[in-house]
Amino acid sequence: MPTLLELTSQGDVGTMTDESQLSKVKLMHPQQLYELWERQSWSAHAIDLERDAEEYATSVTAEEKESLAYNLSAFFIGEERVATQFSGLVRAYEDQGEEAFLTTQQVDEARHAQFFNRFYVEVLQRDGTFEDRLEKAREDVNESFIQLFDVELPDSQERLLADPRDLEAKVDFVVLYHMVIEGTLALTGQHFMQDYLEKQGKLNGLLEGYQRISQDEHRHVAYGTWFLQQKAGDPALRRRIQSRLQELIPLATGVLVPPGVEDPYDYEILGYHSSETHQFAFNALSRRLKVIGVPLAEEVAA
Ligand SMILES: [Fe+2]
Ligand SMILES: [Fe+2]
Repeated sequence: MPTLLELTSQGDVGTMTDESQLSKVKLMHPQQLYELWERQSWSAHAIDLERDAEEYATSVTAEEKESLAYNLSAFFIGEERVATQFSGLVRAYEDQGEEAFLTTQQVDEARHAQFFNRFYVEVLQRDGTFEDRLEKAREDVNESFIQLFDVELPDSQERLLADPRDLEAKVDFVVLYHMVIEGTLALTGQHFMQDYLEKQGKLNGLLEGYQRISQDEHRHVAYGTWFLQQKAGDPALRRRIQSRLQELIPLATGVLVPPGVEDPYDYEILGYHSSETHQFAFNALSRRLKVIGVPLAEEVAA
């Protein structure tokens, strides 16, 4: 499966080797992404988790469960957060194609949270309500995660809800949501989790869920890339995108590090070294920024 920027009018550029071509990529626009959503629909309740429950109880070790917990809980809480903190962007649509696409994205995020809730009930056997399970999952994440999802994200949405026509607030929101949370963190977590589950050959229901969710996330990130590419034509907005990213990257890097790790630059999770996961996340972001036309470090020309 292509991992980056595959949703363009020219097909798959995720494997494009000529980096100079990235700035010339023609992205799918929201109406096309909406039509793609109709073709890619799926049901979180149709995935079979019976075998996963058996395997989790009998052949997943305690150590493995501990390593899985950070990724699973980060996604469970993260999906709930991105569903409920999305309404401001839906109200900030600029045409009918964008409105249609954004409403599908909010439904997708609710579906992702539903999938993880099912997994927590049927496989992890967590009792209580959906809210109880979310609360318990918060024990597995770190402070950077809480800061990003419970402070930065709601604050950013509040600004959009206060004035949906505030273009700067909309740009800030898409940088945080689509570029950092989805494009840098979620797609990285999904990539390594899918790779891990494929190699293990167990928890196939979970793998199927991740594959479906990741397909949705690529569509979401494609929208964010398209939107920022449109707005980056304005030098003031281009500088804003760059400075917002520079502010958020240290926090996002902190989210990647599982709780309890001694050295944040030297640790392993599920058999992957931190240098590999951090590099994957950074490459994903920097390739998208090339498409958008905003360098991460250099000065943006006035
Ligand atoms: Fe999602
Ligand atoms: Fe998403």
